[in-house]
Amino acid sequence: MNLYKHVSDAINQKLGQPVNLEVPRNREFGDFSTNAAMVMARGAGKNPRELAADIASKIAELDFVADTSIAGPGFINIKIKNEFLWQGAAHATDLDSTPTLTIDMDYGSYNVAKSLHIGHLRTSIVGDTLNRIAKYLGHKTISYNHIGDWGRPMGLVIAYIESLHPDWPFFAADFDASKINPADYKITATELDTYYPAASARGKEDEEFLNHAREITADLQNGHPGYTALYNLFLKVSLDMMDGIIKKLNMMPFDKTLGERNASMHLGRVEEMLRAGNLLETSDGAEIVVVRRETDSEPMPPFMFYNSRGADTYEATDLAAIWFRKDADNPDKIWYLTDARQQLHFKQVFRVAEMLNLFPVENLEHLYFGTINGPGGQPFKTRDGNAAGLLDIIDMVGDAVRQRCVDAGKNLDDETIGAIALAALKFTDLMHDVKSDYIFDPAAVTSFEGRTGPYILYTAVRLNSVLRRAGNDCDEIPQMPSSISADERNLIIEILDFERTIRSAFDNRATDLLANYAYDLCQLINTFYHNCPILRDDISAETRCTRLYIARAAQKTLETVISLMGLRIPSEM
Ligand code: ARG
Repeated sequence: MNLYKHVSDAINQKLGQPVNLEVPRNREFGDFSTNAAMVMARGAGKNPRELAADIASKIAELDFVADTSIAGPGFINIKIKNEFLWQGAAHATDLDSTPTLTIDMDYGSYNVAKSLHIGHLRTSIVGDTLNRIAKYLGHKTISYNHIGDWGRPMGLVIAYIESLHPDWPFFAADFDASKINPADYKITATELDTYYPAASARGKEDEEFLNHAREITADLQNGHPGYTALYNLFLKVSLDMMDGIIKKLNMMPFDKTLGERNASMHLGRVEEMLRAGNLLETSDGAEIVVVRRETDSEPMPPFMFYNSRGADTYEATDLAAIWFRKDADNPDKIWYLTDARQQLHFKQVFRVAEMLNLFPVENLEHLYFGTINGPGGQPFKTRDGNAAGLLDIIDMVGDAVRQRCVDAGKNLDDETIGAIALAALKFTDLMHDVKSDYIFDPAAVTSFEGRTGPYILYTAVRLNSVLRRAGNDCDEIPQMPSSISADERNLIIEILDFERTIRSAFDNRATDLLANYAYDLCQLINTFYHNCPILRDDISAETRCTRLYIARAAQKTLETVISLMGLRIPSEM
């Protein structure tokens, strides 16, 4: 139930026009307020306070309104009936039905033969949560791990393997796939991780090596059998590694792991369209599309369709991927989640898509992230001073949680420590405005107090334990007590703000709204827990039931929020 929307719709209907409904920080004078009288008075040349009295009495007629009052120059405060809130609490997580969309979500999108780095953290965590939110709201989503499996890094890695194992058959002119046993050519994940950085460093110094790698890339893209067989070997290693990360981060599995290579198979479709529209131009041996506009105030280089070596470009594959997705899923929207450095890339791709009428450009969205920095604001490094990989970060958070438990004399099993570490990592990521940079400090994010994942889990664990001990011999919706304390009432109102929160998190593509809601909810739960005892001996059976009712509604809401964030609640902490 969306309390805000319910109230707002009813008031708009009553007054015959849409008005501004606000949620005051301090609920002492009302649960909602509106400046409607001041706005309308301005238009009609009336006295705002007099008009406010008029409007307030109309609003007071609504069946869920307890009373209204007027403040200052004509603000109207609205207080909701307790009985209405009481009945609603049981339905906080039941949603109004609304029209739904089909959305292709491109996130994660890891690279083959390149280790995952901190830049992949946000696209994974935020992408997964936006996907969960969208599904919860009833949208149909198709998640794409648009893997980087086709560009120059492939050629570099193959060239590098060739330099390590020149005797392997993949490089021989008479290579015959039927004559080899792939199991004889072992590449471990740890080894593979070192190949790309080494190859790319070598390519920077050794022109000949780089040129060879470029040729290999083009040959691979043209179906060279030896390179293809070798490629399939390390592709498998990479895909297994990605799977490990997806599980470790407790992400939903991707619906489709189809990336640049798959898209490249559909290049012909978009090439045809580009040629038909006379949009391709030759420039220094490359084929480009000019996407600059008169109105551009920033540099807008041409879109490169084929580079001068005839290899498929990252841009071209993204254009073809739009064609493919439209054909396969016919989505209403396509979302791309990457870091902010890819803004120009997506602007170019979207412009060409628009020129081709390939997809309505307003439905192509690039959601880009700020950077995660280490304590001190510098790029994140591991203790030995190297750029941190994604697994390093996960390990660091795990170590920090373990240390805290030792310090606090807690003895928790590995699974629980893993769940806490995951919450620490994901919550901090979800809580920050998606576009801003933020500082990641393993010690701070693992604190059990404050705006942290562990605090959220701790609240849930404690609430679960009370409810477990309480058993269940109360009515599903017990009779409302004759008086409800402010702590109980505030908690119920917060619970009834759940639907509005996730809808605006979705509408604004803003996971921070969800994470910060989780924190506010937990604070109110903890205040309620302290001030409204449930299991204490001196509490009457009736009061116990009414408090349990509130606690259950809070638990259901908190559990839903926690699962939307992709966290696991341990059984103890
Ligand atoms: N593989 C790219 C990277 O790791 C991200 C791909 C994003 N998606 C896309 N359709 N281009 O930076």
